Amino acid sequence: MRVLLTGGLGYIGSHICAALADAGYDFLILDNLSNSDISVKERLEKLTGRGLCFYKADIGNRDALDMIFSREDIDAVIHLAGYKAVEESVKYPLLYYDNNLSGTVSLLKAMDDHGIRKMLFSSSATVYGQNNQVPYSEEDRCDPVNPYGETKYMTERMLYSLASAKIPWTVMILRYFNPAGAHESGLIGEDPQGIPNNLFPYIMRVARGELPYLNIFGKDYPTPDGTGIRDYIHICDLAEGHVAALQSMFRGTEPENPAVYNLGTGRGCSVLEAVSMFEKSNNVKIPYRIAPRRQGDIAECYASAEKAENILGWKSKRSISDMCKDMWRFGQISLEHQNDKQKRY
Ligand code: WQD
Repeated sequence: MRVLLTGGLGYIGSHICAALADAGYDFLILDNLSNSDISVKERLEKLTGRGLCFYKADIGNRDALDMIFSREDIDAVIHLAGYKAVEESVKYPLLYYDNNLSGTVSLLKAMDDHGIRKMLFSSSATVYGQNNQVPYSEEDRCDPVNPYGETKYMTERMLYSLASAKIPWTVMILRYFNPAGAHESGLIGEDPQGIPNNLFPYIMRVARGELPYLNIFGKDYPTPDGTGIRDYIHICDLAEGHVAALQSMFRGTEPENPAVYNLGTGRGCSVLEAVSMFEKSNNVKIPYRIAPRRQGDIAECYASAEKAENILGWKSKRSISDMCKDMWRFGQISLEHQNDKQKRY
Protein backbone atom coordinates (compact mmCIF):
# COMPACT_ATOMS: atom_id res chain seq x y z
CA MET A 1 0.00 0.00 0.00
CA ARG A 2 1.43 3.37 -0.97
CA VAL A 3 0.28 6.61 0.69
CA LEU A 4 0.63 10.26 -0.36
CA LEU A 5 0.96 12.78 2.47
CA THR A 6 0.00 16.35 1.56
CA GLY A 7 1.87 18.70 3.90
CA GLY A 8 4.14 15.79 4.71
CA LEU A 9 7.19 17.88 5.66
CA GLY A 10 5.31 19.83 8.32
CA TYR A 11 5.46 19.21 12.07
CA ILE A 12 2.65 16.64 12.11
CA GLY A 13 3.31 15.27 8.61
CA SER A 14 6.98 14.52 9.27
CA HIS A 15 6.15 12.54 12.41
CA ILE A 16 3.50 10.57 10.52
CA CYS A 17 6.14 9.77 7.86
CA ALA A 18 8.42 8.41 10.60
CA ALA A 19 5.58 6.28 12.01
CA LEU A 20 4.63 5.00 8.53
CA ALA A 21 8.24 4.01 7.87
CA ASP A 22 8.35 2.19 11.23
CA ALA A 23 5.17 0.33 10.24
CA GLY A 24 6.62 -0.66 6.86
CA TYR A 25 4.42 1.52 4.67
CA ASP A 26 5.62 3.02 1.39
CA PHE A 27 4.79 6.73 1.08
CA LEU A 28 5.53 9.90 -0.87
CA ILE A 29 5.31 13.55 0.15
CA LEU A 30 3.77 16.64 -1.41
CA ASP A 31 4.50 19.95 0.30
CA ASN A 32 4.67 23.59 -0.88
CA LEU A 33 7.14 24.41 1.92
CA SER A 34 5.01 27.42 3.02
CA ASN A 35 5.26 26.25 6.65
CA SER A 36 8.11 23.73 6.53
CA ASP A 37 11.68 23.42 5.37
CA ILE A 38 13.42 21.13 2.86
CA SER A 39 15.94 20.23 5.61
CA VAL A 40 13.14 18.15 7.19
CA LYS A 41 13.36 15.80 4.17
CA GLU A 42 17.05 15.15 4.78
CA ARG A 43 16.48 14.60 8.49
CA LEU A 44 13.59 12.21 7.76
CA GLU A 45 15.80 10.25 5.34
CA LYS A 46 18.42 9.97 8.08
CA LEU A 47 15.78 8.89 10.58
CA THR A 48 14.06 6.34 8.30
CA GLY A 49 17.20 5.14 6.52
CA ARG A 50 15.49 5.48 3.15
CA GLY A 51 15.36 7.99 0.28
CA LEU A 52 12.04 9.84 0.21
CA CYS A 53 9.96 10.66 -2.87
CA PHE A 54 9.11 14.36 -2.55
CA TYR A 55 7.24 16.84 -4.76
CA LYS A 56 7.35 20.56 -4.04
CA ALA A 57 3.85 21.51 -5.13
CA ASP A 58 0.68 23.23 -3.98
CA ILE A 59 -2.59 21.31 -3.68
CA GLY A 60 -4.21 24.18 -5.64
CA ASN A 61 -1.98 23.44 -8.67
CA ARG A 62 -4.09 21.02 -10.67
CA ASP A 63 -1.45 20.44 -13.37
CA ALA A 64 1.07 19.42 -10.72
CA LEU A 65 -1.46 17.06 -9.10
CA ASP A 66 -2.28 15.46 -12.49
CA MET A 67 1.43 14.93 -13.16
CA ILE A 68 1.97 13.32 -9.75
CA PHE A 69 -1.16 11.13 -9.91
CA SER A 70 -0.30 10.01 -13.46
CA ARG A 71 3.28 9.15 -12.56
CA GLU A 72 2.94 7.63 -9.08
CA ASP A 73 1.09 4.60 -7.70
CA ILE A 74 -1.05 5.92 -4.82
CA ASP A 75 -3.61 3.91 -2.84
CA ALA A 76 -4.65 6.56 -0.30
CA VAL A 77 -4.02 10.19 0.64
CA ILE A 78 -3.39 11.54 4.14
CA HIS A 79 -4.42 15.18 3.75
CA LEU A 80 -2.59 17.48 6.14
CA ALA A 81 -1.79 20.48 3.94
CA GLY A 82 -3.49 23.66 5.18
CA TYR A 83 -3.06 26.81 7.22
CA LYS A 84 -3.73 26.24 10.92
CA ALA A 85 -3.42 29.45 12.97
CA VAL A 86 -6.74 30.35 14.57
CA GLU A 87 -5.92 34.03 15.18
CA GLU A 88 -4.63 34.46 11.60
CA SER A 89 -7.81 32.87 10.25
CA VAL A 90 -9.92 35.48 12.07
CA LYS A 91 -7.83 38.31 10.57
CA TYR A 92 -7.62 36.85 7.05
CA PRO A 93 -10.59 34.49 6.55
CA LEU A 94 -10.37 34.50 2.74
CA LEU A 95 -6.77 33.27 2.93
CA TYR A 96 -8.07 30.25 4.85
CA TYR A 97 -11.14 29.61 2.68
CA ASP A 98 -8.98 29.80 -0.45
CA ASN A 99 -6.04 27.72 0.73
CA ASN A 100 -7.81 25.19 2.94
CA LEU A 101 -11.12 24.82 1.09
CA SER A 102 -10.40 25.64 -2.58
CA GLY A 103 -7.09 23.82 -2.29
CA THR A 104 -8.83 20.74 -0.90
CA VAL A 105 -11.47 20.82 -3.66
CA SER A 106 -8.64 20.89 -6.21
CA LEU A 107 -7.04 17.88 -4.49
CA LEU A 108 -10.32 15.93 -4.27
CA LYS A 109 -11.15 16.53 -7.96
CA ALA A 110 -7.69 15.38 -9.05
CA MET A 111 -7.94 12.28 -6.86
CA ASP A 112 -11.39 11.45 -8.25
CA ASP A 113 -10.22 11.91 -11.85
CA HIS A 114 -7.38 9.46 -11.18
CA GLY A 115 -9.54 6.94 -9.33
CA ILE A 116 -7.90 7.54 -5.93
CA ARG A 117 -10.81 7.52 -3.48
CA LYS A 118 -9.35 6.73 -0.08
CA MET A 119 -8.69 9.70 2.20
CA LEU A 120 -7.59 10.14 5.79
CA PHE A 121 -8.29 13.77 6.72
CA SER A 122 -6.46 15.84 9.34
CA SER A 123 -9.26 17.60 11.19
CA SER A 124 -9.24 19.42 14.51
CA ALA A 125 -10.95 19.69 17.88
CA THR A 126 -11.80 23.26 16.93
CA VAL A 127 -14.79 21.88 14.98
CA TYR A 128 -16.50 21.27 18.37
CA GLY A 129 -16.79 24.99 19.12
CA GLN A 130 -17.67 26.25 22.59
CA ASN A 131 -21.07 24.78 23.40
CA ASN A 132 -20.17 21.20 24.18
CA GLN A 133 -19.38 19.69 27.57
CA VAL A 134 -15.91 18.20 28.03
CA PRO A 135 -14.78 15.54 27.31
CA TYR A 136 -15.74 16.04 23.66
CA SER A 137 -17.26 13.00 21.96
CA GLU A 138 -17.29 12.34 18.20
CA GLU A 139 -21.09 12.39 18.35
CA ASP A 140 -21.15 15.93 19.78
CA ARG A 141 -22.61 18.74 17.70
CA CYS A 142 -19.97 20.61 15.70
CA ASP A 143 -20.13 24.40 15.83
CA PRO A 144 -16.76 25.96 14.95
CA VAL A 145 -16.30 29.59 16.05
CA ASN A 146 -13.41 30.67 13.82
CA PRO A 147 -12.66 30.46 10.09
CA TYR A 148 -9.91 27.88 10.64
CA GLY A 149 -12.33 25.55 12.41
CA GLU A 150 -15.00 26.28 9.78
CA THR A 151 -12.68 25.18 6.97
CA LYS A 152 -12.01 21.92 8.82
CA TYR A 153 -15.70 21.29 9.38
CA MET A 154 -16.69 22.25 5.82
CA THR A 155 -14.09 19.80 4.52
CA GLU A 156 -15.55 17.10 6.77
CA ARG A 157 -18.98 17.82 5.23
CA MET A 158 -17.56 17.55 1.69
CA LEU A 159 -16.04 14.19 2.61
CA TYR A 160 -19.38 12.98 3.97
CA SER A 161 -20.91 13.74 0.55
CA LEU A 162 -18.13 11.87 -1.24
CA ALA A 163 -18.66 8.80 0.95
CA SER A 164 -22.21 8.64 -0.50
CA ALA A 165 -21.31 9.59 -4.10
CA LYS A 166 -22.08 7.47 -7.18
CA ILE A 167 -18.58 6.04 -6.90
CA PRO A 168 -18.25 6.15 -3.09
CA TRP A 169 -15.06 7.17 -1.32
CA THR A 170 -13.61 5.58 1.82
CA VAL A 171 -12.98 8.35 4.35
CA MET A 172 -11.53 8.61 7.85
CA ILE A 173 -11.64 11.90 9.76
CA LEU A 174 -9.16 12.36 12.61
CA ARG A 175 -9.82 15.26 15.00
CA TYR A 176 -6.56 16.36 16.65
CA PHE A 177 -6.49 17.97 20.07
CA ASN A 178 -3.22 19.67 21.06
CA PRO A 179 -0.18 17.93 19.55
CA ALA A 180 3.14 18.73 21.25
CA GLY A 181 6.59 17.23 21.77
CA ALA A 182 9.04 15.77 19.26
CA HIS A 183 10.50 12.51 17.99
CA GLU A 184 12.82 10.94 20.59
CA SER A 185 15.71 11.07 18.09
CA GLY A 186 15.72 14.87 18.29
CA LEU A 187 15.85 14.96 14.47
CA ILE A 188 12.31 16.26 13.88
CA GLY A 189 10.04 18.45 15.97
CA GLU A 190 8.35 21.85 16.08
CA ASP A 191 10.36 25.05 15.99
CA PRO A 192 8.17 27.61 14.20
CA GLN A 193 9.63 30.77 12.70
CA GLY A 194 8.84 34.03 14.50
CA ILE A 195 6.93 34.29 17.77
CA PRO A 196 5.05 31.00 18.40
CA ASN A 197 1.28 31.12 18.87
CA ASN A 198 1.08 27.79 20.65
CA LEU A 199 1.98 27.17 24.29
CA PHE A 200 4.73 24.54 24.12
CA PRO A 201 6.82 26.11 21.35
CA TYR A 202 6.62 29.38 23.29
CA ILE A 203 7.72 27.67 26.52
CA MET A 204 10.68 26.20 24.59
CA ARG A 205 11.76 29.66 23.40
CA VAL A 206 11.65 30.94 27.00
CA ALA A 207 13.64 27.90 28.16
CA ARG A 208 16.28 28.67 25.51
CA GLY A 209 16.48 32.25 26.73
CA GLU A 210 15.19 33.68 23.44
CA LEU A 211 12.07 35.13 25.07
CA PRO A 212 12.12 36.66 28.60
CA TYR A 213 8.94 35.07 29.98
CA LEU A 214 5.72 33.30 29.10
CA ASN A 215 2.45 35.26 29.06
CA ILE A 216 -0.23 33.09 30.60
CA PHE A 217 -3.44 34.19 28.90
CA GLY A 218 -5.87 34.40 31.80
CA LYS A 219 -5.92 32.99 35.31
CA ASP A 220 -9.63 33.61 35.88
CA TYR A 221 -11.14 30.68 34.00
CA PRO A 222 -13.56 28.36 35.85
CA THR A 223 -10.83 25.71 36.23
CA PRO A 224 -9.02 24.41 39.35
CA ASP A 225 -6.03 26.78 38.99
CA GLY A 226 -7.80 29.39 36.81
CA THR A 227 -5.76 28.72 33.65
CA GLY A 228 -6.91 27.09 30.40
CA ILE A 229 -7.11 23.30 30.21
CA ARG A 230 -6.22 21.39 27.04
CA ASP A 231 -5.59 17.80 25.89
CA TYR A 232 -1.88 17.77 24.99
CA ILE A 233 -1.07 14.64 22.99
CA HIS A 234 2.49 13.56 22.20
CA ILE A 235 3.11 14.07 18.48
CA CYS A 236 4.39 10.47 18.16
CA ASP A 237 1.18 9.12 19.72
CA LEU A 238 -0.78 11.23 17.23
CA ALA A 239 1.35 9.87 14.36
CA GLU A 240 0.82 6.29 15.49
CA GLY A 241 -2.91 6.98 15.58
CA HIS A 242 -2.71 7.61 11.83
CA VAL A 243 -1.01 4.26 11.26
CA ALA A 244 -3.77 2.53 13.25
CA ALA A 245 -6.42 4.35 11.19
CA LEU A 246 -4.72 3.43 7.90
CA GLN A 247 -4.48 -0.22 8.96
CA SER A 248 -8.18 -0.19 9.73
CA MET A 249 -8.99 1.50 6.42
CA PHE A 250 -7.04 -1.08 4.42
CA ARG A 251 -8.57 -3.95 6.42
CA GLY A 252 -11.96 -2.60 5.36
CA THR A 253 -13.39 -3.30 8.81
CA GLU A 254 -14.67 0.19 9.63
CA PRO A 255 -18.28 0.04 10.91
CA GLU A 256 -19.06 3.46 9.42
CA ASN A 257 -17.98 5.62 6.48
CA PRO A 258 -16.78 8.28 7.06
CA ALA A 259 -15.32 7.09 10.34
CA VAL A 260 -14.60 9.96 12.78
CA TYR A 261 -12.09 9.65 15.64
CA ASN A 262 -10.76 11.97 18.32
CA LEU A 263 -6.99 11.75 18.65
CA GLY A 264 -6.40 12.96 22.19
CA THR A 265 -5.35 11.50 25.53
CA GLY A 266 -8.71 11.99 27.25
CA ARG A 267 -6.92 13.94 30.01
CA GLY A 268 -6.88 17.72 30.57
CA CYS A 269 -3.78 19.67 31.59
CA SER A 270 -3.76 23.34 32.63
CA VAL A 271 -1.24 25.94 31.49
CA LEU A 272 0.30 26.16 34.97
CA GLU A 273 0.53 22.35 35.14
CA ALA A 274 2.24 22.31 31.74
CA VAL A 275 4.76 24.95 32.84
CA SER A 276 5.51 23.09 36.06
CA MET A 277 5.91 19.77 34.20
CA PHE A 278 8.31 21.34 31.71
CA GLU A 279 10.40 22.79 34.54
CA LYS A 280 10.55 19.54 36.49
CA SER A 281 11.18 17.34 33.42
CA ASN A 282 14.06 19.48 32.12
CA ASN A 283 15.35 21.16 35.27
CA VAL A 284 14.83 24.62 33.78
CA LYS A 285 12.96 27.68 35.02
CA ILE A 286 10.14 29.19 32.99
CA PRO A 287 9.40 32.75 34.17
CA TYR A 288 5.82 33.78 33.46
CA ARG A 289 3.38 36.66 33.86
CA ILE A 290 -0.40 36.51 34.03
CA ALA A 291 -1.82 38.37 31.00
CA PRO A 292 -5.42 39.03 29.91
CA ARG A 293 -7.37 36.22 28.27
CA ARG A 294 -6.67 35.65 24.54
CA GLN A 295 -9.63 36.33 22.23
CA GLY A 296 -11.30 33.09 21.10
CA ASP A 297 -9.83 30.91 23.87
CA ILE A 298 -12.10 28.60 25.82
CA ALA A 299 -11.67 27.36 29.39
CA GLU A 300 -11.48 23.62 28.77
CA CYS A 301 -11.01 21.35 25.76
CA TYR A 302 -10.15 17.69 26.01
CA ALA A 303 -11.20 14.50 24.27
CA SER A 304 -13.25 11.48 24.98
CA ALA A 305 -10.73 9.03 23.50
CA GLU A 306 -12.57 5.73 23.98
CA LYS A 307 -13.78 5.31 20.40
CA ALA A 308 -10.29 5.15 18.89
CA GLU A 309 -9.23 2.70 21.58
CA ASN A 310 -12.28 0.45 21.17
CA ILE A 311 -12.35 0.38 17.35
CA LEU A 312 -8.80 1.20 16.18
CA GLY A 313 -7.09 -0.45 19.12
CA TRP A 314 -5.07 2.77 19.57
CA LYS A 315 -4.56 4.93 22.64
CA SER A 316 -1.93 7.47 23.64
CA LYS A 317 0.89 5.99 25.73
CA ARG A 318 3.35 8.87 26.28
CA SER A 319 3.08 11.33 29.17
CA ILE A 320 3.29 15.12 29.37
CA SER A 321 6.74 14.65 30.87
CA ASP A 322 7.81 12.56 27.84
CA MET A 323 6.50 15.41 25.68
CA CYS A 324 8.52 18.00 27.59
CA LYS A 325 11.75 15.96 27.55
CA ASP A 326 11.47 15.05 23.84
CA MET A 327 10.65 18.64 22.89
CA TRP A 328 13.56 20.02 24.91
CA ARG A 329 16.02 17.55 23.35
CA PHE A 330 14.85 18.59 19.87
CA GLY A 331 14.88 22.29 20.82
CA GLN A 332 18.49 22.19 21.91
CA ILE A 333 19.62 20.27 18.80
CA SER A 334 17.62 22.66 16.61
CA LEU A 335 19.31 25.67 18.27
CA GLU A 336 22.76 24.13 17.68
CA HIS A 337 21.89 23.70 13.98
CA GLN A 338 20.72 27.32 13.76
CA ASN A 339 23.93 28.55 15.40
CA ASP A 340 26.07 26.37 13.09
CA LYS A 341 24.20 27.77 10.07
CA GLN A 342 24.86 31.35 11.27
CA LYS A 343 28.57 30.56 11.73
CA ARG A 344 28.79 29.18 8.18
CA TYR A 345 27.42 32.31 6.51
C1 WQD B 1 -3.12 26.27 24.71
C2 WQD B 1 -3.37 26.95 26.04
C3 WQD B 1 -3.85 29.29 25.85
C4 WQD B 1 0.15 30.40 24.36
C5 WQD B 1 -4.65 25.71 18.93
C6 WQD B 1 -5.62 25.63 17.80
C7 WQD B 1 -6.02 24.22 17.56
C8 WQD B 1 -4.79 23.36 17.35
C9 WQD B 1 -3.82 23.51 18.52
C10 WQD B 1 -4.62 23.08 14.99
C11 WQD B 1 -4.52 27.94 26.00
C12 WQD B 1 -2.53 29.06 26.59
C13 WQD B 1 -0.94 29.67 24.82
C14 WQD B 1 0.78 31.35 25.21
C15 WQD B 1 -0.80 30.78 26.94
N1 WQD B 1 -4.20 23.66 16.12
N2 WQD B 1 -1.40 29.87 26.08
N3 WQD B 1 0.27 31.50 26.48
O1 WQD B 1 -5.39 27.48 21.32
O2 WQD B 1 -5.72 25.26 22.54
O3 WQD B 1 -5.28 25.26 20.09
O4 WQD B 1 -3.53 24.90 18.64
O5 WQD B 1 -5.39 22.18 14.85
O6 WQD B 1 -6.82 24.21 16.41
O7 WQD B 1 -6.78 26.33 18.22
O8 WQD B 1 -3.45 25.87 21.64
O9 WQD B 1 -1.15 26.13 22.43
O10 WQD B 1 -2.32 28.16 21.48
O11 WQD B 1 -3.01 27.29 23.71
O12 WQD B 1 -1.25 30.96 28.08
O13 WQD B 1 1.76 32.05 24.86
O14 WQD B 1 -2.21 27.71 26.39
O15 WQD B 1 -4.60 30.34 26.45
O16 WQD B 1 -5.18 27.87 27.25
P1 WQD B 1 -5.04 26.05 21.48
P2 WQD B 1 -2.40 26.91 22.27
